[in-house]
Amino acid sequence: MINFKELASEYKTPLYVYDLDYMSAQYNALKEAFKGRKSILAYAVKANSNLSIVKHFADMGSGADCVSIGEVRRAFLAGVPSYKIIFSGVGKSDDEIKEAIQKDILYINVESEAELGRVELIAKELNSTCRISVRVNPNIDPKTHPYISTGLHDNKFGVDLNSAKRMYIFAKNSAHLDPVGIHFHIGSQLTELEPIREAAIIVADLVRSLSTINIELKFFDIGGGLGVQYNNEVTIKPYDYAQAILSTLTALDLTVICEPGRFLTANAGYFLTKVLYEKQNGQKRFVVVDGAMNDLIRPSLYNAYHKIEAITESKSAESKADIVGPVCESGDFLAKNYTLPKLEHNDLLVVHSAGAYGFGMGSNYNTRGRSAEIAIKGNTAKMIRSRESFEDLIALEKDFL
Ligand code: LLP
Repeated sequence: MINFKELASEYKTPLYVYDLDYMSAQYNALKEAFKGRKSILAYAVKANSNLSIVKHFADMGSGADCVSIGEVRRAFLAGVPSYKIIFSGVGKSDDEIKEAIQKDILYINVESEAELGRVELIAKELNSTCRISVRVNPNIDPKTHPYISTGLHDNKFGVDLNSAKRMYIFAKNSAHLDPVGIHFHIGSQLTELEPIREAAIIVADLVRSLSTINIELKFFDIGGGLGVQYNNEVTIKPYDYAQAILSTLTALDLTVICEPGRFLTANAGYFLTKVLYEKQNGQKRFVVVDGAMNDLIRPSLYNAYHKIEAITESKSAESKADIVGPVCESGDFLAKNYTLPKLEHNDLLVVHSAGAYGFGMGSNYNTRGRSAEIAIKGNTAKMIRSRESFEDLIALEKDFL
């Protein structure tokens, strides 16, 4: 059991706390599910990009799925080998493409015909060959929140099947491109298996049809997206997930690449925040805390539910309250209509499932420094990022005064 009270008093709040042992268990469960097939888990760095977290997975043999050259650099710094690093994203700049080619990563995941042209040109200028994969948009509704749905033609991600085929033929005929993989990622926080299976069938069929024209791919990249339990969702079991994918790959000799983010880190993370005040506006009860939307934006942005546990001596009856932060926005809340006892100044609230897309989506809005981050392994807690000071926040501006 993590002693949240002790951590809050030692490191102050707001504070992120990550349980590395939980992350290891999730990694092992997913890796085990793909047993019997060549597979690479390429941790989606965007979920939680703290170097110590990326290193934790690298030490377990993980690769890295990156969406900016900054994330690629993080992966290298954390010790992920170049041959396990993937670079995806709809809008890679020339400089990013150049650096990725020079760093000789596993492949660049190309998301448009226009991008493929740039990659070829840049590889040519470098007198090099770039391994690529194409992100296919299979036009499948993943049945998740629209902001994190990515596999419909309405979404900006990937290319349709016909464009993908043209891109593979173009790459095959280019001296500077080496088509090695195929990729799809239909969305995040997926709790239904059927859309994933359907997407895999479509993409595996494309692999077969490419094979008939002598384009032999090596990597079948299924993206990430495996959902977790925030509230009472019924989630997909790693074994069922792996079986659904593998069953579509009959007679294909491919290494499966999976890019989990949330599954590995979400429920390993906690966000600790302290109660500042209680207030009542007419009938409406508010609990004002020291953490805010700049620390954890998921509730404000997606109306996402995070379980919140109050650590308090209070024995008073429970009633509903909005838990809000100090940021100057009505949309600044961690929960709405949440049932809590009456709380006192300095009572601690533990926000659960905060290990994915928590700190990483944080900002300095309202000139608020970002929280410290703590990692726990066994009985040891270690600070893996210090709290930002006011000086940190203005460092890039003060020379211009
Ligand atoms: N691979 C690709 C190409 C992706 O776009 C993503 C996530 C992942 C892997 C990892 O997905 P995961 O396993 O974590 O579901 N900020 C949102 C989630 C955005 C996900 C973006 N892409 C949230 O807080 O729910």
